[in-house]
Amino acid sequence: MVIAPSLLAADFSRFGHDAARVDRAGAEWLHLDVMDGHFVPNISFGPAVVRAVRPHFSRVLDVHLMCSRPEILLEPFVKAGADRITVHVELGAQVTPLLWKIRSLGKKVGLAVNPPTNIAEAKPYLSQIDLLLVMTVNPGFGGQPFIEECVPKILQAAAWRKELGLSFRIEVDGGINNETAVECARAGADTFVAGTALFKHRNLRAAVDKMRALAAKAGSDLL
Ligand code: DX5
Ligand code: ZN
Repeated sequence: MVIAPSLLAADFSRFGHDAARVDRAGAEWLHLDVMDGHFVPNISFGPAVVRAVRPHFSRVLDVHLMCSRPEILLEPFVKAGADRITVHVELGAQVTPLLWKIRSLGKKVGLAVNPPTNIAEAKPYLSQIDLLLVMTVNPGFGGQPFIEECVPKILQAAAWRKELGLSFRIEVDGGINNETAVECARAGADTFVAGTALFKHRNLRAAVDKMRALAAKAGSDLL
C-alpha cells in the first residue's frame, strides 16, 4: 500500500518544511495537486513549487495535473523533479498523445477519472498506464466529503485489472481518511492520497502508519 499525503493541505507558507515532514513520516509518495484555474475553479502551484520541495522529499513526487493544457507543462514538471504525472481522461482526444509524451519523458503515467465520468471512459487506456486515479471528490479543493458513489468505479477498475492481467496502481484522492481508505482498499485501491485527514495530526508518522496498516489489512481481506 502507498500513502501519498497531498501538499494541497500543507502550510502554503512552508512547502519545503512540510515536504520534509512528510519525508520523515515515511510516506512513500508526496502528492502534488496542480490546479490551473480553468480545468478546476482553483489555482494551487506549479513547477517552481515542485522544484522547491524536491530536495526535501527523498521518495516519489506524484504530480496530479488538473489542467486544461497539460502538454505545455509536462517538461517543466519533469525538469522540476516529478517522478509520476497524472492527467485527466476528461481531456478526451488529448489523452493518448499526453500519455505517450509522459512515457517518452521517462516518467510513470497516470490517468484520472472525475466522479461524474463513467469509468468505462478509462478502459481503452488501461494497458498504457501505470496508475488509474479514481477521484473521490470533484477536483479543485481539499477538505471535501468523500463521494460514496465512486466506490463501484474502484471495484470495476480492479476487476478489469485482474481480467486483463494488468498491474496499474489504483489511486484514490479526495475525502480519504482511515474509514474511507479501508472502504477503498476493500474495493481494490492500493494508493491513497490524503490531505486534511493526515496534516491535521501533529504526529504525521503515526497518522501515515495507521492509515497504511488499516488499508493493508482491508486490502489483504481481498486476497
Ligand atoms: C481535489 C484534491 C484533493 C486533495 C486531498 O482536487 O485533489 O482531493 O488532494 O483532499 P483531502 O483534504 O480531502 O484529502
Ligand atoms: Zn490529486
